[in-house]
Amino acid sequence: MTDPLPLIDSLRYREVMGHYPTGVTVVTGIADDGEPVGMVIGTFTAVSLDPPLVAFLPTRASRTFARLRTARSFCINVLAHDQVELCRTMSSPVPAKFRGVEWSASPAGAPAIAGAVAHVHCAPRQAIEAGDHFIQVCDVESMEVRRQVTPLLFFQGGYGGFSPHGMTAGGDADLISGIRLADLARPQIEVLARDLACEAAVLVAVNEFELTTAATAHGGSAVMRELLGERLPMKPPLGEAYVAWASDEAVARWLAMVGKDPDRLAAHRQRLAAIRARGYAAWQIASSGSGDQADVAAMMVEYAAGDLTPARERALLARMAESMPSVDTADFADEREYDIGGLMAPVLGEDGNVVLLLRLAQLPTPASGERIKRWASDLRAAAAQVEASLPAATALLQV
Ligand SMILES: Cc1cc2nc3c(=O)[nH]c(=O)nc-3n(C[C@H](O)[C@H](O)[C@H](O)COP(=O)(O)O)c2cc1C
Repeated sequence: MTDPLPLIDSLRYREVMGHYPTGVTVVTGIADDGEPVGMVIGTFTAVSLDPPLVAFLPTRASRTFARLRTARSFCINVLAHDQVELCRTMSSPVPAKFRGVEWSASPAGAPAIAGAVAHVHCAPRQAIEAGDHFIQVCDVESMEVRRQVTPLLFFQGGYGGFSPHGMTAGGDADLISGIRLADLARPQIEVLARDLACEAAVLVAVNEFELTTAATAHGGSAVMRELLGERLPMKPPLGEAYVAWASDEAVARWLAMVGKDPDRLAAHRQRLAAIRARGYAAWQIASSGSGDQADVAAMMVEYAAGDLTPARERALLARMAESMPSVDTADFADEREYDIGGLMAPVLGEDGNVVLLLRLAQLPTPASGERIKRWASDLRAAAAQVEASLPAATALLQV
């Protein structure tokens, strides 16, 4: 004899299932009365590759699905992280849900909603009854990714977004104390910007993978290029100036992103050692034409805007790394002229970790190696002054 199945009440079912997040889609179609119909669906799933099938599970009680199933084809719109309002409209019982919604007809006529991450165009194949729901299986006719941004997620009654594991390591408290410390360096960056006629900035780490600009000052003809709070990736070769002083484990994690090529790994290790020995990092402006620079700038803007899919972020970082072969930490020869892109020096805490980074950019170019080394020593002197004021300030600034 088998034991009777334990009774699962609906509260328990919802409670437990609520621990499993879903994406959010709007399944649309043109009903037999010619009107567009849309329904928010979290239970969308891949089913089969060959033939390509997908499915979703509408409740049998749904009046919307009763109309939707009269459509010849569906468009499954995968919502983006910034489409919460659209989701709310589409899941509410308001009439004319499509008023104010931008859409175009899919190849088979169903509403493809603008701003969605992906569109899956499909035709209903079979509606299988399963308890109080249908399992609506569909044949995929065509599909496309429309935006390389993160999707909207639904979890325990709330909407949220995706953040790659480890990217949220730095809490608000860390960031706020970093930003307050950055303000300590303001007098130094103002003097540097004025005296060297450049842009001087203070950067703090948001977490192990990103820096952010916490203060800037401008002198000479330098203009404001980077917004405060903008994200700067620390993925090779970016972030060298920070990682050069980081723990062995942090260096290993950063190098792991370089890949496995032993020559490239050795080159990176050498550069980190050189930066640490010299006390600053330097990079040159790409010599292969202004196109590259504009590309890098555009990529940095896209990265800084955030909410990229992990795949898009990987692709961007790979292209940034390729476009920046001129990140150069070689020693400068006194007499030679260089198109210097910038210089960075750390402000180290008592434990030897980087607390802040001071950065000079938009320096007058070309400049002799001898002049660049003078700038670097001014930068390091400024960093040393900030360092000296740290112990008293840290005690005051605990958040
Ligand atoms: C995030 C989210 C996910 C949902 N997922 C489903 C689903 O998978 N199946 C379903 O039948 N209804 C789902 N709904 C509810 C429907 O969108 C809709 O509100 C409900 O069917 C309304 O009933 P009606 O069609 O009778 O107006 C979801 C709603 C939200 C907000």
